[in-house]
This record gives sequence, structure tokens and C-alpha cells, in this order.
Amino acid sequence: MLLVAASSICAAQNPLAIPPALDLDTFDLVVDEHTHEFYPGLVTNTYGASAEYLGPTLILHRGDTTRIRVHNQLDQITSMHWHGMHVPGDMDGGPQRIIDPGDTWMAEYLVKNPAATYWYHPHPHQLTAEQANFGVAGLIIVRDDDEAQLPLPRTYGVDDFPVVIQDRKFEANGDFAFYPFGDSVLVNGTPDAFLECPAQVVRLRLLNGSNARIYALGIDGQSMHVITNDGGLLPEPAAVDRLWLSNGERTEVLLDLTGMEGDSLLLVSHGEELPSTVPGSSNLVWESSSLNGVAFPVLRIRVVAPTAEAVTGIPATLLDIPMPVEAESIRTRTKTITGMGMVGMGMFMINGLMFDMDVVNDTMQLGTVEVWNIVNNSNMAHPMHIHGVSFTVLERNGQAPPAWEQGPKDVVLVDRFETVKLITRYGEPSNGYPYMYHCHNLMHEDNMMMLQYIVLDPSMGIIAEPEEPVILFPSPAIGSVRYDIGHGVDRVVVRDARGRTLLESPRTGTTSGVIELDGIPAGMLVVELSGDGRSTRTRLMKQ
Ligand code: C2O
Ligand code: CU
Ligand code: CU
Repeated sequence: MLLVAASSICAAQNPLAIPPALDLDTFDLVVDEHTHEFYPGLVTNTYGASAEYLGPTLILHRGDTTRIRVHNQLDQITSMHWHGMHVPGDMDGGPQRIIDPGDTWMAEYLVKNPAATYWYHPHPHQLTAEQANFGVAGLIIVRDDDEAQLPLPRTYGVDDFPVVIQDRKFEANGDFAFYPFGDSVLVNGTPDAFLECPAQVVRLRLLNGSNARIYALGIDGQSMHVITNDGGLLPEPAAVDRLWLSNGERTEVLLDLTGMEGDSLLLVSHGEELPSTVPGSSNLVWESSSLNGVAFPVLRIRVVAPTAEAVTGIPATLLDIPMPVEAESIRTRTKTITGMGMVGMGMFMINGLMFDMDVVNDTMQLGTVEVWNIVNNSNMAHPMHIHGVSFTVLERNGQAPPAWEQGPKDVVLVDRFETVKLITRYGEPSNGYPYMYHCHNLMHEDNMMMLQYIVLDPSMGIIAEPEEPVILFPSPAIGSVRYDIGHGVDRVVVRDARGRTLLESPRTGTTSGVIELDGIPAGMLVVELSGDGRSTRTRLMKQ
């Protein structure tokens, strides 16, 4: 408490830490325990990715293959997820892709995403919030030729700055409290941060890396020109004076500081403007924090002399990134959020379901487009995230979203009683490791507000029509496979590609179960699930 009061009264200013930017073929991220002095003389136990707190910024190039080795030096499991990246399920680093203590996992994938700001963070089930709270996270910057041709600032740390916004709560002994809301604002791990920006057009890459808090950002008297959403550039910059940033969202903005040398600006979050359904507003029912419901400083910007090769104007146009249109959609799914919970430890459900590691909730066909309606019938707003893809917001309660929100996204804030309609192409195969979709309020995510989907390549063999969710997991299978389908099963038959019966087993009529595949040779199998007067066949690869 003392800390917070002292820091906000004296507003002691610290230069904003800029994480190193690495541009390599193969990266190493060592996840380990550390200590860090956020406040002089106060030692905080942290985790970091090759750093005391947070991790380096990884520069990736579209069209290249990247390799990232993740070394787990913690004494607990972890995983590493490339949030926003379009990668196959086995490279996505979700809760199924666990890295044991002492182990190394190497992710290797072709970089397909358009230029924008993405991020990495751990994703072990029920440990995500804790490990992220301790500090394991970092930015990914994707560069590509299209972006390189635009007159945009892109010199990292000079006119292009990472701005990772988090709130943290410190105990008297210096340790982090594990809490949905903090009362200290950290930017790139720096409390009371200031940044020297040259008097020209500068670019801020904003990420909300907080557990639960949503920011309503603004700079008095200065427009922010939004140039990207989570997953790519907008067709043209959109000038705003308020920018909401929910958990996991990234937005790049340009500020035109031309001629302002010597000035000082303040990036503020206007918690007083948030409706009472949005975490960060004052809502007496919620966990309290001295930052809830008030305006508070995030980052002081001191304008210094311009650089030699300054960008001096906001470009009129950016890039039209092709995104799917409604006519391409083969299916509409509705995801309804319910629950009357709290910000921390909330118990919220999606279509009445909660996370079960062994249940796949949706099956998509590779390359197809779907429309989802996310309907929020719960008592608060949720930042909803889908792994492995970018989507476009088509409508909020039947209306087109504002111009600044019309680009490719992977997190969308859905307020209470709001319906958000979005469209997505499922362009990567899950390769036996399901993708998650979940609330990015980390407390909610860890409390099961998360479901999983798989993306099957039809050429790899799904026989059933797409409307019939045939779910075998994992695929390829090794020792056993789980099924979860739309009808009861009283008999399972497994055949090889030539139709010979390898296994036949009676079942109790439930819609899900496990098939033991020990002793069955590797290769393509046909699995037949019969019951309720129906029989469903699907192909399965056994390794
Ligand atoms: Cu940042 Cu499951 O995601
Ligand atoms: Cu993600
Ligand atoms: Cu939520």
C-alpha cells in the first residue's frame, strides 16, 4: 500500500525498459525463476523468458521458417504459446503441448502471418495466469515486404516502441500477489515509466498483458492513429482519442509528434469511463484496486529532438489484407457465455460447457470459413480469443464495428448482453493437438472458460459430412484415442485400410470414450462407432 501511494504521489520517473529485439533463425527462450527490483531496494521473485522479467522481442519474417527452443528451467510444467500466429496445432504450444521441468521443446513453423505485433506466453492448464503473472511473456514482431514498403516508423527502440501494459499487485515483502487486479502499472516491467520519443511520427506497439484489467487509453490533445489490429494492418489509419485494449489484444498506433520537441504527454487509462461490466471499472461487487474506476497514468512521453531519417506524416493508406467474406461461410456456430461470476475465480461457461482436456468441442474442415456468433449472457465483459487463426469482426449487436476495429483480430471483447459476429478461415491443421478458444481474462481461462477445436484435413480422411462432428483425439494417435460424437455408441470396430477387422469392442452407449490401440499396427485405420441406430465411420492415423 505504502509503495503505491509513494509511487503515485512522487511519480518518480523511470526510463522505459526496452526488451532486446532478436532477429535469428533459431531462438532460445529459457524459462526460469529470477528476482527483479521493480522498486529500488525491494526484491520481487519473478519468472522470465531469458530475462529477469518478461522476455526478448522476437523478430520473425513472413515466409521464413522459424525455430524457437523453449527450455523449461522451472520446477513445474510449462508450455509456450505463440499467440495470434497461424501455426499447426502441434506447434501452437497449448495446454496439451506440455514441457516438463528440465525439458526443451522446439517449435518450428513457417511464418504465415502478416506484419503485426504478436506475443508469446505460457499456456499450461490452470498455471497460465500464475506463470504469466510472474512474468513469462514477450512480444513477437512479424515483418513482411508489404509493410516494409509503407512509410512507417520501424526502427525498434528509436521510433518504434514495444509497450506491454500490465498491472501488478506487490506484497509488502516485494513479492507479487496473485490477484486479478494490481495497483501498480508496469510498462515493459517498468513502474512509473517515461519514454523519450523523437519529435516526428512514432509507433507504439501496445499489448494488454494484464491478468484481468481492460484499458481505455488516451492522450489528452493528441490523436492516436490506429494502424493495426491484432493480426495485421488496417486498410487505412483510424484516428481515435480512446482506445480500448482488452487482455491479449495488440494495437499499433502512430503518434504525430512533429514540432513538439520539449513537450511532455501522458498516456492515461480512463478507468472512470469503463461501464461497470468491464474489469477495471469501479464495481463494488468485484475485487477492489486503487486503479479501478479512475484515470491513471500509464506512460509519460517526453518529446526530444527528431532523428535524421524521421517519418513526418501519417500515411493515408495502409494495406488491404484479404479476409474471408460471409458468402464463403459453410457454417454458423453460436457460442453463448453464461455465468454470474467474479473477475477472479469466476465460473463462466461457453455453451454450458467448461474445459475438459480430453474433450474436443468443435471440429472444423481445413480451409473452410465459418461465422461465429458470440453471445454474452453473463454478468460481465469477456475478451474472447481463438487460437491458430485471425478473424474479422462483422458486427457488434448487428452494427458494423468502428473503423479502428475492422482489421484482422484474434481477441475480441464481448460485453454483457452483446452479440459479436465474427468470421474466420481455419487454415491450419491441428495435427493431433487441439486449438483452444477461451476468455483471455487469465483467471477465467484457468477456471475452465476454455474449449477446444480441431481442424481436420479432409484429404487425410474424414468420411462423415462436415455437419456431423466426428471427434477422434489425438490424431495421429499413438497408444489410445478418444472419441466424442453426436450419438450414443454401443459398439466400436477398428479396421485397417483393407477392411480387415483389427478390434471390436462393446460399449455402454455413451457418446464418448477411449479406444485402446496397443498392438494395432501403425497406418491408416477406419474407426466405426455404432449405436442409437446410427453408424459413423471416420479415418484415423495411427503412429
Ligand atoms: Cu494468449 Cu490461449 O492465449
Ligand atoms: Cu492464443
Ligand atoms: Cu472471462
